Amino acid sequence: MCGIVGYIGNNEKKQTIINGLKELEYRGYDSAGLAVMKDGEMNFFKAVGKLENLSNKCSSFSSEGYGFAIGHTRWATHGKPTEINAHPHLGQYSCVIHNGIIENYKEIKDKLEQSGITFLSQTDTEVIVQLFEFYAKDTDIFEAFKKTIDELRGAFAILLITKKDPNRVFFAKNAAPLIIGKNQENEIYFASGDAPLIGLCEEVIYLEDLSLGYASKEELAIFENHKLKQNSFTKLSGDKAFAKKDGFRFFMEKEIYEQSRVMSEVLMGRINGDEVVFDELENEDLSTIEEITLCACGTSYHAAMASAYLFERLAKIKAKVEIASEFRYRDAVIKPNSLFIVISQSGETADTLEALKIAKEQGAKTFAICNVDNSNIVRLAHLSLLTRAGIEKGVASTKAFATQVLTLWMLAIFIAQKKKLDISTEIKALLHTPNCVKVNAKLHEKIHRLSKRYLDGHGFFFIGRDVFYPLALEGALKLKELSYLHAEGYPAGEMKHGPIALADSKLYTIALMPKNMLYEKTKSNVEELIARDSTVLSISPLEFDLSDDFIKTNEQSHYMCEFFEMMVITQLLAMEISIRLGNDVDMPRNLAKSVTVE
Ligand code: M6R
Repeated sequence: MCGIVGYIGNNEKKQTIINGLKELEYRGYDSAGLAVMKDGEMNFFKAVGKLENLSNKCSSFSSEGYGFAIGHTRWATHGKPTEINAHPHLGQYSCVIHNGIIENYKEIKDKLEQSGITFLSQTDTEVIVQLFEFYAKDTDIFEAFKKTIDELRGAFAILLITKKDPNRVFFAKNAAPLIIGKNQENEIYFASGDAPLIGLCEEVIYLEDLSLGYASKEELAIFENHKLKQNSFTKLSGDKAFAKKDGFRFFMEKEIYEQSRVMSEVLMGRINGDEVVFDELENEDLSTIEEITLCACGTSYHAAMASAYLFERLAKIKAKVEIASEFRYRDAVIKPNSLFIVISQSGETADTLEALKIAKEQGAKTFAICNVDNSNIVRLAHLSLLTRAGIEKGVASTKAFATQVLTLWMLAIFIAQKKKLDISTEIKALLHTPNCVKVNAKLHEKIHRLSKRYLDGHGFFFIGRDVFYPLALEGALKLKELSYLHAEGYPAGEMKHGPIALADSKLYTIALMPKNMLYEKTKSNVEELIARDSTVLSISPLEFDLSDDFIKTNEQSHYMCEFFEMMVITQLLAMEISIRLGNDVDMPRNLAKSVTVE
């Protein structure tokens, strides 16, 4: 995830910015840059890799005395992690840093290119500075900034500086965090999170969406929906560790709560009217694919499994799923005209990487669904789509899974479109998914209370049908990883073929009972377990009196919306049980975030 820091004051600006960016390092980044404006002169530096590289690049530069500076750490989304793509992005006399995604950057870029403007980078961000200078040719600087921001669609936190108005920093915010801080020395700071401000600022303003303005030594002007706002600062809390988790107890909890935002980012710029669009796949003909093999490990394997149902149902393509550690040793046959999709959060998982190499050697067309640009898996695959989850710190994967399933669902729709198949109900449902994963405080509290009843027993069965079966597997994996209790995911209809022998009051069944997917069938299977005295927690929009515990979900019109809503419930349940058991939620025993060994 990208990071932003800005500063106005007398301190050594270069170092102030680098120190601030260090506080945001935990979010992950692959390049960094900064710009300093002093006495009307603008200097900038960029470097790929760690902040140390940026520090070395500007080691002989000093910026004492009054002035201002902006700095950025970039997590690549549009374009590779190169120096050209690092922020700040430069025009003729201005520069900009930006967090988020500009959804309509292509339209803007086309328009500007037609009027003779040349772009240097592959990023969406560069359009901001180019558009600003385009308007600044014949209008006042702040007017040009406002016109620029009004034209942007998407998520952004922006800082812009320009030699044409060397005394002000311009800022804007929509759907990406931006904070302004001040202190008694009359210094002004900007940051995309609390952490860089702690110890330096006493008071802050958390900018609201659709706000913009400017700051100088003398003045801070904030406009919300074009109306000048009274500046209302609040006291900044002093706990750095707490700030890094955005106030949550654990990174995992923060990541569960982030899912709505990251899912919006997955969709951003990829839905046009009734269609899914992937710029990355513009020149690819995927309509002739006859078979898809999906291959992954752990949680990513569950995302693969869920998507196999969607590829067959929506795109009418035979889809099979492989566990990477099995695939690599079993002399598998890959048919010509088949697509080999690997899914990986980290892009470095040894088994998945090896499976990808084997498929490539056999001549398959390979495709990576991955969260990390420039990872080994992305570099090796012929095609790739980034899942845009941002860095995931919790070892137990949550938002990475959500974005994988969403991206794969979009890919299934994309292929269905190319084959002229009916996908009329899908786009509306896709757009609704960020709402389905919003965590409601009452629900979280209910799960917290329920969790105390599920701390012992001789095992858990998570059961579901269709895509809710891989979700059951994922729910069980989350519980195992975090609580160290035995849990299994099972197809609901398969329980009667053996596992039902385990049923008694100390066998806990978590039943996923969506309204829009085989409700009656699943209900019968749950009743079979209730008749054998299993303790059942059912999750459904439809009241179900027979179960011991019940979590009511919202009425949704698409089963994938139910899928995502139930996903959050299983994540919270695993986390709350683990907290009660006193386990380390973010770093469960024996597990590693990236498994680069066999
Ligand atoms: O980085 P990857 O997605 O390739 O990782 C695969 C698994 O190691 C990973 O999903 C693992 O199962 C997580 N701990 C799940 O929470």
